[in-house]
Amino acid sequence: MVENKPGLGIGMIGYAFMGAAHSHAWRTAPRFFDLPMTPEMVVLAGRNGEAARRAADKYGWPDVETDWREVIKRDDVDLVDICTPGDTHAEIAIAALEAGKHVLCEKPLANTVDAAEAMAAAAKTARAKGVFAMVGFTYRRVPAIQLARTLVTEGRIGKIRHVRAQYLQDWLVDEDSPLSWRLDKTKAGSGALGDIGAHIIDLTQFITGEHITGVSGQLETFVHERPVATASAGLSATAGFERGEVTVDDAAVFLARMSGGGLGVFEATRFANGRKNAIRIEINGSKGSLSFDFEDMNVLNFFDGTEPNDTAGFRRIVVTEPEHAYIAHWWPPGHGLGYEHGFTHQVVDLVKDIAAGKEPSPSFSDGLGVQRVMAAIESSASDNGAWHET
Ligand SMILES: NC(=O)c1ccc[n+]([C@@H]2O[C@H](COP(=O)([O-])OP(=O)(O)OC[C@H]3O[C@@H](n4cnc5c(N)ncnc54)[C@H](O)[C@@H]3O)[C@@H](O)[C@H]2O)c1
Repeated sequence: MVENKPGLGIGMIGYAFMGAAHSHAWRTAPRFFDLPMTPEMVVLAGRNGEAARRAADKYGWPDVETDWREVIKRDDVDLVDICTPGDTHAEIAIAALEAGKHVLCEKPLANTVDAAEAMAAAAKTARAKGVFAMVGFTYRRVPAIQLARTLVTEGRIGKIRHVRAQYLQDWLVDEDSPLSWRLDKTKAGSGALGDIGAHIIDLTQFITGEHITGVSGQLETFVHERPVATASAGLSATAGFERGEVTVDDAAVFLARMSGGGLGVFEATRFANGRKNAIRIEINGSKGSLSFDFEDMNVLNFFDGTEPNDTAGFRRIVVTEPEHAYIAHWWPPGHGLGYEHGFTHQVVDLVKDIAAGKEPSPSFSDGLGVQRVMAAIESSASDNGAWHET
């Protein structure tokens, strides 16, 4: 294991889906990557002490707190990792930054633009004191997405004309699927838009290096009442007999203009029967095209339009070679990566940036930018799809 390096004490809030993924990342990162600081899993926080203790034992956290405020007070915690629903992000992140703790906060950054602005302001103040914040748009850390970004940056697809981005899931197709916090606006802020639409907004802006300047959106809730959840974790929940109102969108679609002059078509839904976690992005440029689907996450398709016409065609690049981002730290060439690796890469990059005194990316300002796009989509949708600037 890593020796003679400064430690970085981690306190994690929330311990279900993302809690498990982040625990795995903190545990794994120093074992596969040469980090300048050693993450030390110090304490996990959850409101139910017994359940938190069980999670801590399972995921490798020695200590437990039942109030996140106690985590922030601890001298042995240097970084607070927020794995709770969006309604809690702003309060926890701002308190942690003010206490001098680095923060990793799950996406979407917040439930409103106001809350996201307050978080970005707190991050800016903290940064001046060498305290850093990152928002968890994890899919940026998929090696094929990194390659897409590199090809765009190197000009290999030229000027961007079209972005076609979709995030398709089907876990709400069953009309009796329970009403978990993800379907409650007070907890989640929005539905498919903030949960999965946020990812394709971030990925588009990350890969292209451009931003979305205006949108025309439509939101729809297909199923208005569902059985109230008695327990939930991640995308699963147990239903009771009582029924409650769904207060968020089930699907979001929008058209967009990009800052470089291109057009975007976006779709985020949990009703795409048969599509499990299909993050699909196709970008057409003046010189070539790229396409990616997370359901085949180790592959990037690249069309180089400068090749001779008789043999030009989409090439399927298996992104598992040592030349590709992060790959050299894992398995021999060709042995693909999975969902969890993105979370490990995320903490690797965060720890390196903290040690280098450099602002991590995506920053809270980037998270605020995504929040503004989502707010413009919501205001456009409530204005019958009229054009709204971001
Ligand atoms: N980066 C990604 O790809 C990705 C994937 C899934 C979820 N997320 C985000 O992660 C966050 C959590 O989602 P999840 O799927 O892990 O949810 P989850 O329901 O599986 O877990 C939420 C956890 O937060 C805890 N919690 C809720 N309110 C709390 C409070 N006030 N104080 C302390 N703990 C509290 C719950 O007990 C639970 O442990 C959300 O912001 C979600 O959008 C990100």
